[in-house]
Amino acid sequence: MDIREEIVRLKNKKRAIILAHNYQRDEIQEIADYTGDSLGLSKKAASIQDKELIVFCGVYFMAETAKILSPDKKVIIPDRGAGCPMADMITAQQVREFRNKYPGSVVVCYVNSTAEVKAESDMCCTSANAVQVVLSLPADKTILFVPDRYLGDFVRKKTSRNIVCWKGFCPTHARVTRDMVLAARKKHPNAVVLVHPECTEDVVDAADEAMSTGQMIAYVKKSGRTEFIIGTEKGILYQLKKENPRKDFYLVGKDVICPNMKKIDLQKLLVSLQEEQDEVVVAPAIMERARKAISAMLLL
Ligand code: 13P
Ligand code: SF4
Repeated sequence: MDIREEIVRLKNKKRAIILAHNYQRDEIQEIADYTGDSLGLSKKAASIQDKELIVFCGVYFMAETAKILSPDKKVIIPDRGAGCPMADMITAQQVREFRNKYPGSVVVCYVNSTAEVKAESDMCCTSANAVQVVLSLPADKTILFVPDRYLGDFVRKKTSRNIVCWKGFCPTHARVTRDMVLAARKKHPNAVVLVHPECTEDVVDAADEAMSTGQMIAYVKKSGRTEFIIGTEKGILYQLKKENPRKDFYLVGKDVICPNMKKIDLQKLLVSLQEEQDEVVVAPAIMERARKAISAMLLL
């Protein structure tokens, strides 16, 4: 039997749902029941009723978030080693120390963080709602934004709030440079430049818009324009091309690839479903506190 057929057979037999991030390999996005950005995936995980098993194709913090929002379901990830280097750039202890340095501050954590870090935070955000989350907080509060310094810079500019950033960053988006954007513009003068706010400030400034991957997909679909320069991870091209076969997309640089997002393939997905491994487990005390921070953003 074809590997795809076997995955679908097992998925149905085990009452499983396959969730995938927009950066996953094309064949994973193709077989998934739902593909989205971090916010969309969180909302989806929180609303699953009729399934027993969630197979999460993404990086570990995303699977952990799904578990926190759907604690009664078994959540598995086909490669436990698919981490996010940015999420590992701050620990729970460092959040506590950061907070102690700024008494009375509010800690906002980007969803690209561990469950332990979320548990130490007041509110979580994704790149799709970071501006909204910060604007929902009292204007006189100092906001400690962890771990992404560039998303934090982006939000500070949009909101004029007093934001102190942790010095984390995404190694994949940090590879995008202003010169790459300018060169791509020169080559494709009619294209709209869309970048992810994990890119550096000068890259965001050189682009037309900065937004989450889900927002990019929605933007392109609605736009009357036909050419787009894309400043985020290559995997997003799958959804963009699928939904807009008559539009043209140019990745800003050929190396904008997140190696962790590419760790999951069909073979690993099959084995994961067969063995129901690796199970994502979060300690109950951490889970409760982390859920508060995530739920606060979902309620906005
Ligand atoms: P999105 O939430 O925009 O999909 O981004 C997730 C991510 O990891 C970006 O690097
Ligand atoms: Fe983490 Fe960057 Fe990969 Fe997103 S693209 S999962 S932020 S390393």
